[in-house]
Amino acid sequence: MRIVVVGKGGREHALIRSLSESRSQPELFCFPGSDAISELAKLVEVADMAELIAWMGANAIDLCLAGEESYLLKDEGLANLCVKNGIPCWGPPKDAAQLEGSKEFAKQFMERHAIPTGAASVVESAEEALEVIGGNYPTVLKFDGLAAGKGVAVCPDEASAGEFLDEVFGKKRFGEGSMLVEECLVGPEVSIFAAVSGGESLIFTPARDYKLIGEGDTGANTGGMGAVASRQLLDGKLMERIQKDVIGPTIDGLESDGLGYVGFLYFGLMLTSEGPKVIEYNCRFGDPECQAVMPLVSGDFAEFCLEGARGRLKPELLSFDEGWSVGVILASGGYPASSHSGDVIRGLDKVEGARVYHAGTRKNGDGQWETNGGRVLAVVAGGADRVSAVEKAHAEAAKVDFDGAQRRNDIGRLSF
Ligand code: AMP
Ligand code: GLY
Repeated sequence: MRIVVVGKGGREHALIRSLSESRSQPELFCFPGSDAISELAKLVEVADMAELIAWMGANAIDLCLAGEESYLLKDEGLANLCVKNGIPCWGPPKDAAQLEGSKEFAKQFMERHAIPTGAASVVESAEEALEVIGGNYPTVLKFDGLAAGKGVAVCPDEASAGEFLDEVFGKKRFGEGSMLVEECLVGPEVSIFAAVSGGESLIFTPARDYKLIGEGDTGANTGGMGAVASRQLLDGKLMERIQKDVIGPTIDGLESDGLGYVGFLYFGLMLTSEGPKVIEYNCRFGDPECQAVMPLVSGDFAEFCLEGARGRLKPELLSFDEGWSVGVILASGGYPASSHSGDVIRGLDKVEGARVYHAGTRKNGDGQWETNGGRVLAVVAGGADRVSAVEKAHAEAAKVDFDGAQRRNDIGRLSF
């Protein structure tokens, strides 16, 4: 089996590692990939998505696995182009990927299918937004389109709302587009991942992402400073409710709307006092949750994705470890406001009994790993219980260092 993974980050490194451990022993390729990924998969040297599709056709590729979302939404859509060229794709067609690409589309989908979510209104200008907010703070403002994780602001007061409205409608930081004014929900957040195909779904291990830079969930928002994953994160009753109120109606809604969803679907949930509510859908695995979840998955992941891409969901190909997994991110100096590249990473050879997934790294001329971005790498360790996984992950992460390195010491210590 020959598989191309599309993406270049820590999530793709983790997916490729799991594919490489699959019983079917696939031959792996990646576009655009990274130096670290090139140790497990051959990098496809093409300029763009159109060339990639042609390359896959000419190189007898059996499966294209979409890691990141941007290609799914670009031009005709990665999955649409694959299907047109007879290449099975684990990733949704462009229309279905609008669940992530447009907050307005996602909100209408949830309203249509009675899926619990915060109440929201669409606005086209700053004046309209202020009118809809009507002085009720906190409020949540969401730019409608893709915004590299920067398009959402939780605003405690009018001043912060004013600043974000100026970014969106004044400076047009994210380009043209409308915005949602959304009810501010309160409660712990959890990330649920479903593998979806043919109207059926398989839930992977639930996870919690630690989004803020500072310990105790303080400071600026980031792409994620770590994650904890375990079946035990949520009790059985709550999981049943999430299935009944959120996952079931979503999968049924995708079918009845004829969206033909295939691939991972990420449910960002808020566990409110009224029950679980959807804060967002993403049409991909989470990053850094994927790095924590994938070590808990065994079986034939490659075959599972191939069968899924052909429209047959085969849960029997996978099994899930009942224990815990904790991933600690090391970020470079200045992150998240900026990032620092070129700092040599020390101690990688000392890590034992844990996995290191690279995100923003590169090999320098002397063959050393160095930083090359904001979130640099994840150190991930497992254990039968939460405490042992947490202690192991932090002990191993502490062995890795570079100038300016930032790391949260509390990842996984408190589940919520
Ligand atoms: P998103 O970009 O949609 O993942 O949103 C980023 C973050 O904003 C989420 O992880 C939440 O912490 C927060 N957020 C989004 N929507 C809401 C909401 N309706 N109420 C409170 N917080 C929210
Ligand atoms: N963990 C947040 C995300 O992948 O969007």
